Amino acid sequence: MKIVKGFSKMSKMQKIDWLKTVVDPSSTHLIDRLSSYWLNDSDEQKKFDDFSENTLTNFNLPFGIAPNFLINQKIYTVPMVIEESSVVAAASLGAKFWLERGGFQSKILGTQKVGHVHFIYTGQPETLRLAFDQIKPYLLEAIEPLVVNMKKRGGGIKDLRLIDQTHKLDHYFQLEVTAQTCDAMGANFINSVLEEIARVFKNLLSHLESFRHEVDKITIMMSILSNFTPQCLVESSVECKVSDLGTFADGMSAETFAFKFKTALEIARVDVSRAVTHNKGIMNGMDAVVLATGNDFRAIEACAHAYAAKDGQYRSLSTVELTSSTFRFSIKVPLALGTVGGLTSLHPLVKTSMSILHYPSAEELMKIVSCVGLAQNFSAVRSLVTTGIQKGHMKLHLLNILNQMEATPEQVEDAKKYFSDKIVSYKSVRDFMSGYR
Ligand code: MEV
Repeated sequence: MKIVKGFSKMSKMQKIDWLKTVVDPSSTHLIDRLSSYWLNDSDEQKKFDDFSENTLTNFNLPFGIAPNFLINQKIYTVPMVIEESSVVAAASLGAKFWLERGGFQSKILGTQKVGHVHFIYTGQPETLRLAFDQIKPYLLEAIEPLVVNMKKRGGGIKDLRLIDQTHKLDHYFQLEVTAQTCDAMGANFINSVLEEIARVFKNLLSHLESFRHEVDKITIMMSILSNFTPQCLVESSVECKVSDLGTFADGMSAETFAFKFKTALEIARVDVSRAVTHNKGIMNGMDAVVLATGNDFRAIEACAHAYAAKDGQYRSLSTVELTSSTFRFSIKVPLALGTVGGLTSLHPLVKTSMSILHYPSAEELMKIVSCVGLAQNFSAVRSLVTTGIQKGHMKLHLLNILNQMEATPEQVEDAKKYFSDKIVSYKSVRDFMSGYR
């Protein structure tokens, strides 16, 4: 193992030279490979380099589109960035299926986000509560300069409260800020507000006669937004008559399909093993749009999974309501997304995504993302309860393996025919290809 000092100060070429000593000092392969992914336009490349640290090159992922999403009577073509085969195909199939059945309905249930100043106070909770009530107007005044622009855009701080958390951890309290951040994801805004509150909190308390001798009992721990945003919530659904679901592979009736689909959803509600995979399928679709629009997929993932476990057990994010005549499939999911700021104004392909979506507001993007998650989930569960997932997957998997083996277009066509009724595995494709060689 090599230790290096001052790495971040090195130029990009120096970093690559150092890395070469780690990988294979005699090879030119590393620099050739890394540089082959640099952009021709060096100013543009510099922008990418500056997104992160110790950047050596760009890492490509497929950028695709899923057309035909009818959401609240408006058609969207949705950009998706994802490496997993079948995801864009499944989203598109789900979109098309529901396009013919009235499309998706989506509504925002809330857009509030929160953040906390976490602190310890070893005195009496009631003493702190009384003091907090007195200084609260001054805390709000102190953050006013940070909030003024957000207010002009229609957002701002909606609440500031003291939360006693001593039943969870001795002496633990929070100052909770509730914010409305309009079309911005708002992490920087909320964190700046919290840090300002933390900065002035003890000082303001020390001016209170009743609290002057208590101030030393407070230790500020940290100030940070919460990525758990259950109040920033969207609900999306599709609905049709059971008989309009059509017929499925091997002549499966609409009624049998609806029953199997509903049971699959019930399994994902009660069984954690299935729920995680079920929700992973939803995230396949949602993350791909979140990435394409330059949003923070780690925050979206963390929040969605916490929400899935909100009643103490991890459950499916989607649900089915089935009556004798109607099939309704819906999802409720928190999505703290932004359509301004961050990567949205920096990454050229994020800008392209926004133009493909006709520059949505954050609320509109929440609706789109949740509908893609629902479409994805519908297609995955539909495959699972009818043909099985491997049929569709393997078609694309076959292409990936053939590409890896550098098959010619003619070989690809032959392989598609040959494997149409056979099991695809790396070995079976290699055996097939060796027939050519
Ligand atoms: C694969 O990436 C996603 C699925 O496993 C989702 C599911 O099982 O519902 C197909």
